[in-house]
Amino acid sequence: MSHLSDRPDDAVVGRALPHESAALHVTGDALYTDDLVVRTPGVLHAHPVSSPHPHARVTRIDTSPALAVAGVVRVLTADDVPGTNDAGVKHDEPLFPEIVMFVGHAVCWVLGETLEAARLGAAAVEVDYEPLPAVVALTEAIAAESFQGGQPVVTRGDVEEGLAGAAHVFSGTTEMAGQEHFYLETHASLALVDEGGQVFVQSSTQHPTETQEIVAHVLGRQSHEITVQCLRMGGGFGGKEMQPHGFAAVAALGATLTGRPVRLRLDRTHDMTMTGKRHGFHAQWRVGFDDDGRFTALEATLTSDGGWNLDLSEPVLARALCHVDNAYWIPHVRVHGRVAHTHKTSQTAFRGFGGPQGMLVIEDVLGRCAPLLGIDPVDLRRRNFYVDGQATPYGQPVRHPERVVAAWDQVLETGEVARRRREVAEFNAAHEHRKRALAVTPLKFGVSFNFTAFNQAGALVHVYKDGSVLINHGGTEMGQGLHTKMLQVAATSLGIPLGRVRLAPTRTDKVPNTSATAASSSADLNGGAVKDACEQILGRLREVDAGRGLAWDDLVREAYFGRVQLWAAGFYRTEGIHWDSTAMQGHPFKYFAYGVAAAEVEVDGFTGAYTTRRVDIVQDVGDSLSPLVDIGQVEGGFAQGVGWLTLEDLRWDETDGPGRGRLTTQSASTYKLPSLGELPGELHVALLEQAHEDGVVYGSKAVGEPPLMLAFCVREALREAAAAFGAEGTSVDLPSPATPEAVFWAVERARTAGPDHVVDGLPGVVPDPPDPSAPALHPTSERSAP
Ligand code: MTE
Ligand code: MOS
Repeated sequence: MSHLSDRPDDAVVGRALPHESAALHVTGDALYTDDLVVRTPGVLHAHPVSSPHPHARVTRIDTSPALAVAGVVRVLTADDVPGTNDAGVKHDEPLFPEIVMFVGHAVCWVLGETLEAARLGAAAVEVDYEPLPAVVALTEAIAAESFQGGQPVVTRGDVEEGLAGAAHVFSGTTEMAGQEHFYLETHASLALVDEGGQVFVQSSTQHPTETQEIVAHVLGRQSHEITVQCLRMGGGFGGKEMQPHGFAAVAALGATLTGRPVRLRLDRTHDMTMTGKRHGFHAQWRVGFDDDGRFTALEATLTSDGGWNLDLSEPVLARALCHVDNAYWIPHVRVHGRVAHTHKTSQTAFRGFGGPQGMLVIEDVLGRCAPLLGIDPVDLRRRNFYVDGQATPYGQPVRHPERVVAAWDQVLETGEVARRRREVAEFNAAHEHRKRALAVTPLKFGVSFNFTAFNQAGALVHVYKDGSVLINHGGTEMGQGLHTKMLQVAATSLGIPLGRVRLAPTRTDKVPNTSATAASSSADLNGGAVKDACEQILGRLREVDAGRGLAWDDLVREAYFGRVQLWAAGFYRTEGIHWDSTAMQGHPFKYFAYGVAAAEVEVDGFTGAYTTRRVDIVQDVGDSLSPLVDIGQVEGGFAQGVGWLTLEDLRWDETDGPGRGRLTTQSASTYKLPSLGELPGELHVALLEQAHEDGVVYGSKAVGEPPLMLAFCVREALREAAAAFGAEGTSVDLPSPATPEAVFWAVERARTAGPDHVVDGLPGVVPDPPDPSAPALHPTSERSAP
């Protein structure tokens, strides 16, 4: 029996197993929320009445024409809400608004016998609006000082002193677009009411507990009257951390008022126009380097585009501020953050949760300054890595910084980076209209929720009399393989084969008060809780065994007849973390996940079209719990990062015309997602060896979000390839996303600019317009260029 050791030789954790639902996924048998509808008789369908205005007062709603439409059963309005008319944890999100705040904002919802009836009913509802002025572009919001929420600052040292002592000072602006989650399964909820009035909501939610709480608030009920279940999601990516609650509440409200099951599933256009996305960011920065290219200081203001309400914008901003350093030691730092208030969807969590936006700023700074410093970007990055004993600007010691170096060296070696860079140089010398580049970027990502209280989890483990085991835990499955890992953890800690363990759907009546499945922490947290429950049971079984070494089934049977409890509730909380959100100082993260990636690209100078020839990745996942799952996460995260940085181009109508505020990229036909052709021709992924992480379940590390940020290397390679069309030492500003069109204009600028904008020998300045509304390098001006 291997019940006693932490990670036995024959452990089920660490085995390369397929995702527990892989077969169901590929056969189409896996059930998602909306699949339950066909099994639910008498279900009603919900359809929104959506605002055509980005900002307007609703002066009149007449629902009677809708009720005249055949098949329409009821129209839900603010008057129907028995509890609180609000779907947000910040109470700034009226479920049925008096003032609409973005194009597509639902004014009210129509319930019909069929979706078509509900849709026709919604079209018949008469709504009068009094249009109000709208702020759409992030730069407009900055100019108008339209902000919401707190304005945190992360500081260390004395920035003025750091800049005064610098050999080189540069300043600039970095802008980056947001990103649509484009999970395959759109938002969906199915609500039912039982004979006692108990409400059951099946929801595609990353945060069943919060969905439960919001449904309770809206209905004016207690939490114990609401049960939320999530079978699985067809992707969440952060988009279902906070956004499902209102939809669940509408379905639940409809079910309680009609006594019939109500289904609410957004079609793709509704999902894209109604739900929040990754925050676009605007950053202004000033940075100092010493003569060796080492950072002396960084001063920056990061402004995120929060959309119409706060949602998760404040924690997203906090994470951005905590990731501006990425893997680099910067002695003097002052980074100021703001959330802009705009009349757009409420931007929300998206894989990396602000971390990618913060890190993109420093990678953009390095990419632009390297040529101005005359230092090879590979050397410049490597030179600035943290070393042991240094801490982040918010005061957390950087543990194991040598792992970044190890991953870096491994990528350089296995990727044959030195040889291939020579080949790139030869290729470029021989080709006038095609240029290649190879860039390498590191990543350091803090794992844990910044907000300490969220770092807790629960589990319920049942051992039945026949020795079979059923586990419940508080995390949700969205394709990331959490359930696979939890099965492996349970089998390992109980010392039984995987086939003896099953997992039951996530439900708030099994494990209460859970945190969102987010921050990449779910395996750490829920794994800790599952292991705790298993160890409680094992402790009792050990007493029954009394050193006899009984086989599992015999031991379980004997324990039952000895009236020993065969099930346990497990609990886990992350130790050793704390965070002061006012001072923006503390030790918010249990540890850092590290990774390094190298990308080689080729750019066509006539069109800006490019291909990614090869990518090499080394990712630190600690001692992997499930290597196949982890490699899948690395590949998927990387691809999603490539999409964000190079292809996915969210465009909002910023004109003063009648379409103002409209999302013009509302479907896959206008919103370019990465497909196989845009992914690297050759992709090598390795997990860092000997990376055991103390104090985390079976020595593992989080993997869900960090790999997204490996994609920085593709962007940097595109920048360097564009620069190769210009004179030696040309610094190229690349918009984000670096679409082929944007790369084309970057190539044009490189051809004409040259490096002469550096003030020689003196602190130079990257010639960026300080006025954020100036169009020079703004992606939208690229778009309007001929
Ligand atoms: N992988 C898949 N396939 N689908 C998803 O929706 N979400 C990502 C990541 N990987 C996601 C995914 C995000 S945003 C997070 S925070 C983590 O998974 C959440 O799960 P974890 O905590 O188990 O890593
Ligand atoms: Mo992930 S953005 O933390 O859901």
